[in-house]
Amino acid sequence: MKELTHTCHYKLYAYDELCEADRKLVDAAKESTQSSYAPYSQFQVGAAALLSDGTIVSGSNQENAAYPSGLCAERTTLFFANAAHPDKAVEALAVAAYTNGKFTNVPVPPCGACRQVMLEVEQRYHQPIRILLYGTEGTYVVEGGIRELLPLIFDASFLK
Ligand code: THU
Repeated sequence: MKELTHTCHYKLYAYDELCEADRKLVDAAKESTQSSYAPYSQFQVGAAALLSDGTIVSGSNQENAAYPSGLCAERTTLFFANAAHPDKAVEALAVAAYTNGKFTNVPVPPCGACRQVMLEVEQRYHQPIRILLYGTEGTYVVEGGIRELLPLIFDASFLK
C-alpha cells in the first residue's frame, strides 16, 4: 500500500497587496454580484474572466424556481466568455459573493461542477487559469490553475 497525497497551493493576499490588474478583475467580480438573480438563496455570486486580449467578461449566478436549472456565476461567466470569444484563452477568473448586505469575509470556493468546467476550459486553451477568490478578510490566489483545486481529474483522455 502507498499513501498518496494531493497538495493545494494557494496564497492569501490582502486586497491592497493585489497588483492593479488583479484588483481590477476582483472589482469586476464584485460589481457583477449586483447582476445576480438569486431570489431563492439570496446568495449573489459574481465572476469575472480575463481573456488573452485583455478583455474582461463578467457574469453572475442565475437561479430558477426549478432549482437545478439555475447556474453558478463561474459557469455563466466561462460559458459566456467562450461563446462570445471562442478564440481567446481565459487567463484568470475572479469570484466574489455578496449576501446579507455585504461581501463574504471568507472567499467562496467554486463548486465541483464549476471546477470541472474550469478544467475543460484550461484544456481547451492549453493554459492554466489563475483563480482569484475574494473575501473581505483576504483574497485567495491560486496560481497553478484548477488542478490545485481538483485532484484526480476526469477528462477527455478517459474517453479515447
Ligand atoms: N453559487 C455560485 O454561483 N458559485 C459558487 O461558487 C457557489 C454557489 C451559487 C449557486 C446558487 O445560485 C447560490 O450560489 C447558492 O448556492
